[in-house]
Amino acid sequence: MNKRTIVSMPGDGIGKVVLPEAQRVLDAVGFEADYIHADIGWDFWISEGNALPERTVELLAKHKLGLFGAITSKPKDQAAAELSPKLRDKGYVYTSPIVGLRQHFDLDICIRPCRSFSGNPLNFIRRKGDGFEEPAVNAVIFRQNTEGLYAAVEWTDPPEPVRSALETHPKMARFKSVLGEDLAISTRIFSRGACRRIVQEAFAYARRFGYRSVTVCEKPNVIRETSGMMRGEAQAVAKDYPGIELWETNIDAQMMWLTKNPETYGVLVSGNMFGDIVSDGFAGLVGGLGFACSANIGRDVAVFEPTHGSAPKYEKLSPSIVNPIAMVLSACMMLDHIGEDEKAKRIRDAISAVIAEGAVRTYDMMRISGSPESIGRGAASTTQMTDAIIEKL
Ligand code: NAI
Ligand code: MG
Repeated sequence: MNKRTIVSMPGDGIGKVVLPEAQRVLDAVGFEADYIHADIGWDFWISEGNALPERTVELLAKHKLGLFGAITSKPKDQAAAELSPKLRDKGYVYTSPIVGLRQHFDLDICIRPCRSFSGNPLNFIRRKGDGFEEPAVNAVIFRQNTEGLYAAVEWTDPPEPVRSALETHPKMARFKSVLGEDLAISTRIFSRGACRRIVQEAFAYARRFGYRSVTVCEKPNVIRETSGMMRGEAQAVAKDYPGIELWETNIDAQMMWLTKNPETYGVLVSGNMFGDIVSDGFAGLVGGLGFACSANIGRDVAVFEPTHGSAPKYEKLSPSIVNPIAMVLSACMMLDHIGEDEKAKRIRDAISAVIAEGAVRTYDMMRISGSPESIGRGAASTTQMTDAIIEKL
């Protein structure tokens, strides 16, 4: 296997802590790669007026594979206030660099596996008879990553042509008397090609990894056009996968069933907003932010990242106490993506073994609040958790 080049984008806060930990695990499993550091995040907004510098985009365009830690983003007025004085009032507007990457490289397939590790004290438990049971959750959410409500086609006080265009729809009549400044519109745009692609990827994944069902989770009974298109594409694609059942759920009911029978679900597929919601819901059943990994995959470029943010309150803690597992699992998804299945499996098995043994747990796994005292209370540091995983390898 040729040596890979990975663009390493730690970003801000704990992104800078967890990404090097994932690289240590990748080294330990024998994955041969060069890591090229790339700038991204708040510091570059402050100093350059761009949280996603062009040089970072160029590195990704060249090398195709990226690991991303996390970034800090702040509201508009705060972003403007922190911008370097020499850049102020020059028209710079802050935009999220990770959203920027997804759009620039059309990383339209977001995958979020939510699997419980046996022995994780954060696993969801359910009442059964006089006791409790712990269902083994193994759900993988495919979220369309570039369209829908996140396409950001929206207005408050929409311009006149928009308003008149909308008024060609009879259902717009009830808003006729609302003043422009009192009217906010966020559009939910789905395109058939993108719906088709996310559903196809979901089915292909189900086949590759042996899942028996794909659930399209939308709301076609109410949001008839967009959810209806996703559902229609799912029905069409399902015909090519006779061994895999297509199930259909509505997002609201799905969230209710989450705590009733989460173990029933295999692969799920949704548009952008509902995919975000349902994947956070499942992630909560398997340990939350310290465990939630994700992949953003386009036709050409792919970026792998934990779901969590930069957790600024832990940024300066030394030694660091945050859980590196979400980042390490994201690195495993990169290995899956490039066909290094065996190495990915070995890392996941090592994580399973550490969790099952229970001797090394970060503060989040102990359900205590994170503070400089966490380690004195028995929590492992970030490094100790990584070391334990490496030792099992
Ligand atoms: P966050 O995910 O950074 O942290 C929320 C809380 O979750 C933390 O205070 C901590 O208690 C816990 N947590 C997060 N990661 C953890 C880990 N690896 N181990 C143990 N505990 C962990 O979300 P928050 O506080 O809402 O946002 C902080 C900053 O991150 C903001 O600037 C936000 O915009 C940004 N953000 C960036 C994301 C990204 O880079 N993709 C995603 C979410 C938020
Ligand atoms: Mg989210």
